[in-house]
Amino acid sequence: MKNILIAGNWKSNKTVVEAEAWLKSFTIKQERVQVVLFAPFTLLSFLKMHGGSRFELGAQDVSPFESGSYTGEVHAKQIAEFAQWVIVGHSERRKYFNEDDELLSKKTIRAKEAGLKVIYCVPDEKTVVPQGVDVVAYEPVWAIGTGKTDTPENANAVITTIKKRTPARVIYGGSVTAENVASFVSQPAIDGVLPGGASLDAKHFGRLIENASPYAS
Ligand code: PGA
Repeated sequence: MKNILIAGNWKSNKTVVEAEAWLKSFTIKQERVQVVLFAPFTLLSFLKMHGGSRFELGAQDVSPFESGSYTGEVHAKQIAEFAQWVIVGHSERRKYFNEDDELLSKKTIRAKEAGLKVIYCVPDEKTVVPQGVDVVAYEPVWAIGTGKTDTPENANAVITTIKKRTPARVIYGGSVTAENVASFVSQPAIDGVLPGGASLDAKHFGRLIENASPYAS
């Protein structure tokens, strides 16, 4: 038995109307699993007001700068008004926005200065994890959004290696669903999961959380 973190990543999905519908059909009975919802910036205020105590909130990105003349950026203190968490270094940020380790290290520093908890995504056990990160997410790129997961045994082995170099909790991400979540969270080194697609449907996400809860203390 261990603390299990389920971090739902909505990515660039949902309007306020859609988020409202999601909230209405999201029901969970358990209280043992820690749930965080990573929503687009535009929904954080709404979800903070209407989400209740069923989940904590996170942003999906943070500016590497403090406040100032950086058009389009949202800085860490602005996020901290609405959310407790932020994802740094998701593989989609690395791929589509050319974010590299140096930039991601700056983002991590800004987030920690503002008191945010950081989930730092890595594609393998070799990628350097900045100091101060709270949770590392091991997400093999080929498993993201493809319906093909890593095997629970290999994810456990990679996460065991990552844990030798960081005191952070380490979770697995890549095509996690309500059907396969138990096979991951039952592995001894895996502290939770980061579902993307499976968090978009409230009923499915609720089932995913329920199916993980027998493994949580
Ligand atoms: P997926 O996304 O669950 O849709 O594969 C995971 C992620 O990108 O964090």
